[in-house]
Amino acid sequence: MGPITIHVRESQFTGGDHVVVFDADVLLLPHDATIAVTLTGVHPAYDRDPEGEQLALDCIRDGIMAVLATRNVGALVEVSNLVIHPVDFRPSYFRRYTVRHLEAALADVPLIRPAEVEDVAALSELARATYAAAFGHSLAPEDLTEHLDRHLSQQSFARALVEDGDVILLALVGGRIVGCVQFGTLREPTAEEGADRELRRLYVDVGFQGRGIGTALVEAALRHPLLAEAPRVVLDVWEHNPGAQRLYRRFGFEVVGERCFEVASGAPTSLDLIMERRAP
Ligand SMILES: CC(C)(COP(=O)(O)OP(=O)(O)OC[C@H]1O[C@@H](n2cnc3c(N)ncnc32)[C@H](O)[C@@H]1OP(=O)(O)O)[C@@H](O)C(=O)NCCC(=O)NCCS
Repeated sequence: MGPITIHVRESQFTGGDHVVVFDADVLLLPHDATIAVTLTGVHPAYDRDPEGEQLALDCIRDGIMAVLATRNVGALVEVSNLVIHPVDFRPSYFRRYTVRHLEAALADVPLIRPAEVEDVAALSELARATYAAAFGHSLAPEDLTEHLDRHLSQQSFARALVEDGDVILLALVGGRIVGCVQFGTLREPTAEEGADRELRRLYVDVGFQGRGIGTALVEAALRHPLLAEAPRVVLDVWEHNPGAQRLYRRFGFEVVGERCFEVASGAPTSLDLIMERRAP
């Protein structure tokens, strides 16, 4: 995801003159609490007020920290077109308007955070609906129901979090869960001394697909310490899901095998491809 740009032009006292003026390019850094703010341009360039500029930057930084603290991300911020008003300079207003503009700019940007046990009801609802929409047509109704109940129930997500030590990252837009990715230890005999990992479930709400949320979730998962250090990350993807395969390939996953997707009735089904990504 590229930088988010905010353009602040606010007049508080002077009934026309702008007293809080700057632009900021905010590049969000997942899993990194760093907030670095640099000044790349002031206006007018010939009449500078270094002390005022520093005060304004500190306040902009405070505002950015206040907004991003709840989102668990850091940011690289470039401030430009900064105006230090010769008369009506109120540093605290830079914080206020930074918060207001950044909150508004982030309203549609998914927030990615780890799931808690309290999230399992909404998580299960998202996963079941997305799974049924994407794959329901390929299964007999009773096999679909059985699969949803066995693998995507509230209980199975709670078990994954509490007993299996899996991590589930959620994508939220406007406070609503619209995507998830689950990962943890690879449980198969060939796994190398418990160090190999599996990316288990990736779902994005049908109404939010194609907007980069799946990509952001996979990116966040691969940067998570549990996967970032792993020698091998493995996943299964349906052979007839070229979109997801393309997404995984872009992150360096390659097909290394295949296995039958088993359903409760034992009916013949198509194959899951096994993809893996080795540590560079
Ligand atoms: C696959 C999925 C998680 C991707 O999330 P997304 O937010 O739609 O993805 P992005 O917007 O980041 O797009 C990245 C890629 O995802 C793939 N993609 C997009 N929409 C998709 C869809 N409806 N179904 C499958 N793949 C899709 C494409 O490869 C896309 O890249 P492209 O634009 O070059 O074609 C999401 O579409 C989904 O939940 N699909 C149904 C369930 C599923 O297939 N899960 C993966 C199981 S292994």
